[in-house]
Amino acid sequence: MKKIVIALLGAVIAGPAFAAPDWSKVPTAKVPVFYPGQSGLEWVLTKKNHSSSNQILDKKRACTKCHDTDAEQIGGMIVSGKPVGNMSQPLDAAVPKGKVGSIPVSVQAAHDGNKIYLRFEWDTPVSGGGKKMDSKNDMKLTVMFDENKVEFADRAGCWATCHEDLRGMPGASDAAKGHAKSKELGWGDGVTKYLKESRTELTMTGNARGGWDKLKSDAEIDAALKAGKFMDLIQFNSGKGEKAVDGYVLDSRRMGGGKSLVKAEGKKSGKHWTVVFERTLAAGGKGDHAIAAGKLYNIGFAIHDDSADGRFHHVSLGYTLGLDNDKADFKAVKQ
Ligand code: HEC
Repeated sequence: MKKIVIALLGAVIAGPAFAAPDWSKVPTAKVPVFYPGQSGLEWVLTKKNHSSSNQILDKKRACTKCHDTDAEQIGGMIVSGKPVGNMSQPLDAAVPKGKVGSIPVSVQAAHDGNKIYLRFEWDTPVSGGGKKMDSKNDMKLTVMFDENKVEFADRAGCWATCHEDLRGMPGASDAAKGHAKSKELGWGDGVTKYLKESRTELTMTGNARGGWDKLKSDAEIDAALKAGKFMDLIQFNSGKGEKAVDGYVLDSRRMGGGKSLVKAEGKKSGKHWTVVFERTLAAGGKGDHAIAAGKLYNIGFAIHDDSADGRFHHVSLGYTLGLDNDKADFKAVKQ
């Protein structure tokens, strides 16, 4: 009896802000992540690659409108190495050995008025036996979200950040390493994710699609950041001693600056992974969005499974997140 009283007292003192959500009471959205091959933003927006490009551009149709039921098939097609989309050649000629096409993931979201909790659960596929690209982390889970100000994030989720001229993509340029801003932008291994908002233009035709070197001025990029035109990024790394990442994407993929992430925890039992992010609703640092009631946020996530690195991940289409919002795909319920 005494123990129970103490436990209750503890709960009262700690208050709901410190209590982990009771996940059994939180709705679950089941969404697939799939292997995207080399389908960057310019690929999905070009008719000769992807026949529905104008529906995305003109009708502002989201990927999920057409691919909510066939994302698994898309992943399966891409890893099979068969031609996909409107093309006569495969979308990825270097699919790692044994890569699975897709992974079904359960997503839950809850909040307590101060913090938001995002929970992801899935079964790890059997290892394909391919090369271990990331020797430190056998798994990484990355989430990106915007506050509905980034062009294409509403329709395309993470594809807003993915371009044909990033490292590992067909138009990657070696010149990036020698660029004057290479160090500042973290381009030691090549160009990382960026948004159209940070570039003067995106080339949509020819072999050099994208706009890696068409950087806007520092003042313009700062203004975009202040205006909330960035994707907030948080990442859990499975490697021991690896710190969770709180960064953002605008002119480049920045793996720091944020202060809203309280912690990211992952547990693997057998083949089953559970990862929970705990984050303040308030914006804490550089590249942090505040998450407020009454708004919808565009959100996507990716899993680097089987020690994958770079582009060799499984990615979700774009979804929405909102606090107690019935319109959201991922409805964060108050507890
Ligand atoms: C209006 C419907 C529509 C929208 C919106 C749409 N797609 Fe597609 N997508 C298709 C169709 C139809 C195909 C089949 C091949 C083709 O016609 O290009 C396809 C094919 C693909 C493929 C190649 C795989 C295959 O099986 O052929 C990928 C990858 C893909 N889409 C990704 C996306 C992404 C990412 C988005 C959002 C940015 C998106 N699509 C938005 C209709 C759509």
